[in-house]
Amino acid sequence: MCGIVGAVAQRNITPLLIEGLKRLEYRGYDSCGVALHVDGKLQRSRSTSRVADLETQTNKLELTGFTGIAHTRWATHGAPASHNAHPHFSRERIALVHNGIIENHEELRAELQAAGYVFESQTDTEVIAHLVDHLYTGDLFETVQQAVKRLTGAFAIAVFCQDEPHRIIGARQGSPLIVGVGKGENFLASDAMALAGTTDQIIYLEEGDVVDLQLQRYWIVDHAGKDVQREVKTVHAHSGAAELGPYRHYMQKEIFEQPRAIADTLGNVSGIMPELFGDAAFGIFKKIDSLLILACGTSYYAGLTAKYWIESIAGIPVNVEIASEYRYRDSVPNPNALVVTISQSGETADTLAALKHARAQGMPHTLTICNVSTSAMVRECVLSYITHAGVEVGVASTKAFTTQLAALFLLALTLAQIKGRLSDEQEAAHLKAMRHLPVSISAVLALEPQIIAWAEEFARKENALFLGRGLHYPIALEGALKLKEISYIHAEAYPAGELKHGPLALVTEDMPVVTVAPNDTLIEKLKSNMQEVRARGGQLYVFADADSRISPSEGIHVIRLPEHYGLLSPILHVVALQLLAYHTALARGTDVDKPRNLAKSVTVE
Ligand code: M6R
Repeated sequence: MCGIVGAVAQRNITPLLIEGLKRLEYRGYDSCGVALHVDGKLQRSRSTSRVADLETQTNKLELTGFTGIAHTRWATHGAPASHNAHPHFSRERIALVHNGIIENHEELRAELQAAGYVFESQTDTEVIAHLVDHLYTGDLFETVQQAVKRLTGAFAIAVFCQDEPHRIIGARQGSPLIVGVGKGENFLASDAMALAGTTDQIIYLEEGDVVDLQLQRYWIVDHAGKDVQREVKTVHAHSGAAELGPYRHYMQKEIFEQPRAIADTLGNVSGIMPELFGDAAFGIFKKIDSLLILACGTSYYAGLTAKYWIESIAGIPVNVEIASEYRYRDSVPNPNALVVTISQSGETADTLAALKHARAQGMPHTLTICNVSTSAMVRECVLSYITHAGVEVGVASTKAFTTQLAALFLLALTLAQIKGRLSDEQEAAHLKAMRHLPVSISAVLALEPQIIAWAEEFARKENALFLGRGLHYPIALEGALKLKEISYIHAEAYPAGELKHGPLALVTEDMPVVTVAPNDTLIEKLKSNMQEVRARGGQLYVFADADSRISPSEGIHVIRLPEHYGLLSPILHVVALQLLAYHTALARGTDVDKPRNLAKSVTVE
């Protein structure tokens, strides 16, 4: 999703801005641009290709300067075309970049057109540039404070003016923006990672903040225009562009990192205790009578899996809601519910808005399971559990999902303990199984050659069905999402018992049906569902366990996972499905790490 970098310095900042954009590339984008203050004038370069192409262009143009802003754009209003790429200019005096969506852009556009402004793009962003120009008083800080009052929607902006060469103004509402504090130079970015290697002194701006960055100092005012001090934190952000090593794509690397990521997420957990989730966890967990889990995409499927675990192990009712739906529907708030958000990035706009909605409805008990300790989600929630998956670059989430599951299983055990439903023996057995996960995942990864053989067949298909039952239904959903997201094969997942209620009509000999078939209590029911598929000529691709007692035969292809893993089995089965999606996409030649139309971090609604 869109990314911002800005700098005011006493050296040429073009390389720094380009490097910042490269570090943000993993978020996904379809155009990019940079604007600089050059010899008293605003100059820019924009590209609908990669940041590397923008770098070549800026070098050719010899674009250098001490003050500037840069942007990666993920198109919302207006196609991914050069004239829609940021930075946007107004009358060659104001340069501006923007993340987010301005909801009242049409109304403002009409007003500014009436005032004589001519629009070059279809974006909502150009409206802000002209608005700032229109209101300009000679003091950009003051002007931006006035301008943002006219905006409805979500935004993080960075803006500079031809007349004030050593100054950049930033503002945020609903989209993240940080300040990087340097020595005799200061920076702005949408993500601390953009400034890795430049400064580790980071301020996370709060909702409604406007910041004035100059060479030697910076000021921040809050939404009411009052001077505020925000804490400067030391943040060791790692570059998103970690080494690929022997892997062809980040997704493949991240799939293979899962044994390490799970081990790091479990860290030194030697016993179940509420404090794993924060100092106030014991008091909160004692009070709550249910859970409301809010998330999007893959994180939502982690929540669905957790529902099975928590209801079965802890006996506490769990509702799981898609964040973008929950925030707009009339629901019945329960002040005694624990609101749990699950997010890799911690910046997903829909999940953040759903969290705020739940709080506004009178639900104060909040916990996040999140991979980024400095994210808005962690700052907004009372309790947190940080998964230590490490930076996830591939748009398709893999190690973030399995580490979320590990954290959620710990949550289920903790709640069970508090409710008096976990004996010492059970605790010890569960922890032993969790600690063994890295070894078991490695055994699933060793199945890669067999999965590649299947992937070559899948690559020729345009549709696929995924079946699972119980705990493995969310895993089937996740397997289908992975496949469609990166291979562009249309894939749907169903609880196997639902087949005969409709989807069976789709089954022909051309339809591959992936079945997640661990040896659990539902295996016999699942075998009957598989027969329903075979009777219609469907081709079954079954991920079984060592003891599932399913043999390969005509139309039934079987890969056996080395062992049945009880309640933790979803964590193993999903790894096999990730490999199937990855190798199918590879065989189809898609851009695995940056699938079309998608962004890594979805910071707009
Ligand atoms: O950062 P988050 O976990 O909040 O992101 C939620 C979804 O956007 C994300 O899981 C998305 O579905 C992935 N691309 C799936 O692979």
